[in-house]
Amino acid sequence: IRSILSRPDGGAALAGQRIRVLGWVKTGREQGKGKFAFLEVNDGSCPANLQVIVDSGKAKLGSLVATGTSVKVEGLLVAPPVGTKQRIELLVEEVLHVGPVDLAQYPIPKTMLSLKFLRDFIHLRPRTNRISAIIRIRDALAFATHSFFHENEFRLIHTPIITTSDCEGAGEMFQVTTMVGEAEKLQKGEVGVAAKPGIPQKDGKIDYAADFFGRQAFLTVSGQLQLETCACAVCDVYTFGPSFRAEHSHTSRHLAEFWMVEPEIVDADIQDAMNWAEAYVKYMSQWLIDKCHDDMELMDDKGCIDRLRMVASTPFERISYTEAVKILEEAVKGGKKFDNKVEWGIDLASEHERFLTENKFQKPVIVYNYPKGTKAFYMRLNDDSKTVAAMDVLVPKVGELIGGSQREERYEVIKERIMEMGLPLKPYEWYLDLRRFGTVKHSGFGLGFERMLLFATGIDNIRDVIPFPRFPGKADL
Ligand code: 4AD
Ligand code: MG
Repeated sequence: IRSILSRPDGGAALAGQRIRVLGWVKTGREQGKGKFAFLEVNDGSCPANLQVIVDSGKAKLGSLVATGTSVKVEGLLVAPPVGTKQRIELLVEEVLHVGPVDLAQYPIPKTMLSLKFLRDFIHLRPRTNRISAIIRIRDALAFATHSFFHENEFRLIHTPIITTSDCEGAGEMFQVTTMVGEAEKLQKGEVGVAAKPGIPQKDGKIDYAADFFGRQAFLTVSGQLQLETCACAVCDVYTFGPSFRAEHSHTSRHLAEFWMVEPEIVDADIQDAMNWAEAYVKYMSQWLIDKCHDDMELMDDKGCIDRLRMVASTPFERISYTEAVKILEEAVKGGKKFDNKVEWGIDLASEHERFLTENKFQKPVIVYNYPKGTKAFYMRLNDDSKTVAAMDVLVPKVGELIGGSQREERYEVIKERIMEMGLPLKPYEWYLDLRRFGTVKHSGFGLGFERMLLFATGIDNIRDVIPFPRFPGKADL
């Protein structure tokens, strides 16, 4: 349907062609005393519907008109009567399939439904205009991502989902365990063959279910550490995959399972990382303006296309963390109230981030050189010994879109940092090897893919920009 209706002539020149269409009825009505059915059919390729006309000799019209009915039909494209909105419609010659719907039971009627309501129908919501548009925008951004990195000679690396490393060192990991066999026996209190000691929990108890074939393993929080091994061998690389965080956040910006795009660039410092991050966000914004205009127009936020234009054409603001804190302190002096206190050393809260992007600069802001205490062990220590070469890209409406840094490439310094942060050295020995043997300056960042979607579409809740959201209490389907 897209290939017909997206033509500059709206498909008019295709009159006379015979085509087959498979799609779902958005709205249908019988007309001419039951002689014809007029169906608005959508096949998910674009937001627009094709008008399909079936006469009563071809099918039982009553079974076709219900919203949600699937139809496969063959017929001739014809010019509609003058004065109608469409430039082309389909006159059906043969009905090849009908999947009927009992409207009394169908939970997705044709009226406008709230995104919140639709979250209870994850399996049917892709049939609605907005969710299908989001699905296409998401797909476009994924393609734009691969296009951007490949144009710039990055290699895609498939980093693992199951890992023993906690990249962020925040302990927000889901453990992997087996359902059958040994773990089950251990859980029941039976002595299993692999009666491993398990790992002591905070309360000192042993969790015997923490079992990946007798070892402790987790779902990845980030592919960065593994990505670094490849960057230190084949140069610029990126990964694009699911990340898992066991943080108990019930916010509209957090998911337990989200997708992250992570490039890792060699011979790059923190400035280079900022340049790459800005170029990538601009590239995606321009891509949506060029290719997804019709879908973007379906978003409730009518300002989203203008916002993308602004992002694509305006240089991002860049300020150090210290400058950011000064700006916030001045705002407090001027009467601005924040829930979280402002002083040098704090981790910026999302209200602070939004103040910087929405009130102060009204555009994306990159904050760099954070206090080392607020950031992960692998970030390069600056000469002041107080800050690290970290950078976050903050955007209006969302707050943190990207987190990145220059990596600590000096063996002695990173070893020291790991110990200083109270992390065990042993699991990071392989990571230290990258610094022990042939170390090189390198930097990278992670972009939260759903956060980019929130920013691009203006949708309020992150649960609506991923087809199957996972958050505390929800992992259905
Ligand atoms: O800032 P984060 O934790 O950085 C890292 O994981 C680095 N290892 C990335 C790197 O340097 N390769 O996460 C990166 C981004 C955040 O800026 C945010 O956009 C997103 O991932 N993010 C989440 N998105 C949705 N739900 C969550 N729970 C998220 N946690 C982080
Ligand atoms: Mg971060």
